[in-house]
Amino acid sequence: MAIEQTLSIIKPNVVAKNIIGKIFNRFEKKGFKIISIKMLKLSHQQAECFYKQHISKPFFKDLINFMISGPIIISVLERENAVNFHRTLIGDTNPMKALKGTLRADYADNYTENGFHGSDSIESALFEINYFFKNNEIYSNKS
Ligand code: CMP
Repeated sequence: MAIEQTLSIIKPNVVAKNIIGKIFNRFEKKGFKIISIKMLKLSHQQAECFYKQHISKPFFKDLINFMISGPIIISVLERENAVNFHRTLIGDTNPMKALKGTLRADYADNYTENGFHGSDSIESALFEINYFFKNNEIYSNKS
């Protein structure tokens, strides 16, 4: 299977729980290489543009207000099949449906404050990684 990169976000509610180290430990135990990381507090405009495909959804305003409510941790993760593997590891977007042992089952608070974001396709991973990182900030293990 191909080596891929995906964008992972630890959202404000999980950053506030002071468990960033535990989360990265879980990524590493599952074979991900963390090839870039940053912590930042999104502006309203940054959050709206990142989630622009949801602009017409009823939850959009709550989502944006939540995403700008505190710092987030953004990372680029690399391994075989990274996009789907990461989404499986974080669990269903709706935490009520997230399987036992997934990150959202363990740490999400509700649908909006679901703790984590992961790219949902290779195309969106490319857009999302480029949204937050310059090429020279990413330390790929790919040859
Ligand atoms: P995320 O993976 O970051 O992608 C879009 C986000 O919108 C999602 O996680 C949730 O935080 C939020 N979201 C999606 N669907 C709903 C919904 N039905 N109700 C509330 N929030 C939602």
